[in-house]
Formats: sequence, structure tokens, C-alpha cells
Amino acid sequence: MSHSAGAPLTAVPPQANAAASATKLVKTYGKGETTVHALRSVSVDFTAGEFTAIMGPSGSGKSTLMHCLAGLDTATSGEVRIGDIDLTGLNDKQMTKLRRDRIGFVFQAFNLVPTLTARENITLPLDIAGRKVDKQWMDMVVDRLGLGDRLGHRPSELSGGQVQRVACARALVGRPQIIFGDEPTGNLDSRSSGEVLSILRRSVDEFDQTVVIVTHDPRAASYADRVVFLADGQIVSDQRGLSGDDIFEYMKHLDEPAAQAGPAPHDAAPSGPEQAG
Ligand SMILES: Nc1ncnc2c1ncn2[C@@H]1O[C@H](COP(=O)(O)OP(=O)(O)OP(=O)(O)O)[C@@H](O)[C@H]1O
Ligand SMILES: [Mg+2]
Repeated sequence: MSHSAGAPLTAVPPQANAAASATKLVKTYGKGETTVHALRSVSVDFTAGEFTAIMGPSGSGKSTLMHCLAGLDTATSGEVRIGDIDLTGLNDKQMTKLRRDRIGFVFQAFNLVPTLTARENITLPLDIAGRKVDKQWMDMVVDRLGLGDRLGHRPSELSGGQVQRVACARALVGRPQIIFGDEPTGNLDSRSSGEVLSILRRSVDEFDQTVVIVTHDPRAASYADRVVFLADGQIVSDQRGLSGDDIFEYMKHLDEPAAQAGPAPHDAAPSGPEQAG
């Protein structure tokens, strides 16, 4: 793998050239006894031209953070910037344009249009924006993701993994400045997963794009330059140069209740997510 393995573990200094950033981001659901603190004042910068993985237990706030960063959800308080643009100041139309022009998404729900073919779904964001498809790049992405013979099919005629790969191709094909992926390799076999990750890696190394993914898989996270760990709505670790083994060990430690400051607040959610490998 082409990432910088074996470097010492260092805290990440604040960055001036952030492709995206959150400042004191708070997201609270509900009121009174049922209040859920999904994000408790999260501040983080994602450096331009870098690949970051966000990890943490189920319910720790990873998807919430991503949705707020990508302008798909609004925070209770705090600030989000994409490049130098403060999202809080944008109206719906400006937000739609910003998302369309600068951001690629691969989310847990893939949001393909059921009536369009795989090919039409992949080029949809570019078609809407009136931008030209770079055919060579598209062919490479489609080929590497093994979608070449499925392009004429609708989502209902594809397997779950193929649908997921179409969603990845759609995010990649317009080469947006920043790509957000919420478990983009969640249901993929290891070969497809490796292809998706190496294309993401390549889009950072060769095209200077910025990639931020959520993943539960230490191997997937090891493609990243940096790993940010969330627990209970807060960043508990932010490190560079971690190997898959380092990440696996750290996640085990996060799952131990004693590892988190103070006693575990409750014993709900007994279903620890997969600890594969
Ligand atoms: N619409 C909502 N209403 C109320 N609570 C919510 C809502 N969406 C998320 N939450 C809660 O916010 C917390 C963070 O959820 P989030 O989806 O960000 O977790 P996650 O880290 O992505 O988890 P997973 O790994 O399971 O996807 C959870 O406790 C969740 O139950
Ligand atoms: Mg999630």
C-alpha cells in the first residue's frame, strides 16, 4: 500500500489549508430525557490533498459529522466550512450548487435513481451541472470497479455490491475537490473494496483531491494518511501513519469501557459492530 506506514504517532497540528472544517460542532437530537448528544463540540480540519478515515463505535456520531460536513444536515450549533465557504451562510440554492460543484458523496444509503441505468446514474451529477464527462477517467474507474458489463442495467438489476460500486463511481467520476464516503466499502468483498480504496488513494495522490471516509475496517483505514477516532460524540484520537494493526489495537481499546474518560454512561447498545479479521 502506498500510504506512509511506520511513521511515529503524532498529534495533528491545526491546518491553514483545510478543504473542509468543523468548528465546535454540536448536534443534539430530541429534548429532555430523550436528548441524544450526537456531536459534543467537535472541531476538526481536513487538509486539502489528504485522505482521512473516521472511525469509532456504532452511534459515536460519525455519520452525523459527515452529513453536517457535506451540508446534508445542519448542526445545532457550530460552524462548517468547505474550503473558505461557511455553510451556515448559504441558502438552499447556494448549498445545492456548492454540493454539486465541489463535493462527491458515497453514503450508507446509496441514493441511486431507480429509473436510470448504472451509466446514467454515474454521470448524473455531471449532466445536471452541464459538465463534460472525462471519458478516459470514467472508463478507468468503471473498469477498475468491475462495472464495465453492468452499465446498461438499472439499480434493481444489480447486486448490492454493484450498486455500491456504482455509487462510488458516481462520486469519483467528476473529480470533486472533496469526497465524503460513509462506509463506502461496507458491503464489498475484499477485492472490490481494495479497488475502491486504491482509486480513492489515487485521487488524492495524483489529482490532489481530499477524501474523508467513515469505516469500521482497520484495513480500509490503513489506506488513509490520518485516522480520527470518535467516541460518544467527541474526537478521542487523531493520528497519522497508523498501520492496520495499530488501528485494530486502538479500536479494541476504544471498545473497552474503561478506555473512555469516566465510567460508561449506560449499558445500552450491546451489539458491538463487527470486529472482523
Ligand atoms: N434523526 C435522529 N434522531 C435521533 N437520534 C439520532 C438521529 N440520527 C442519529 N441519532 C443518534 O445520534 C447518535 C449518532 O448517530 P450516527 O448515525 O452519527 O452514528 P454512527 O457513528 O454513524 O454509527 P454507525 O457506525 O452505527 O453508523 C446515535 O446515538 C444515534 O442514535
Ligand atoms: Mg453511520
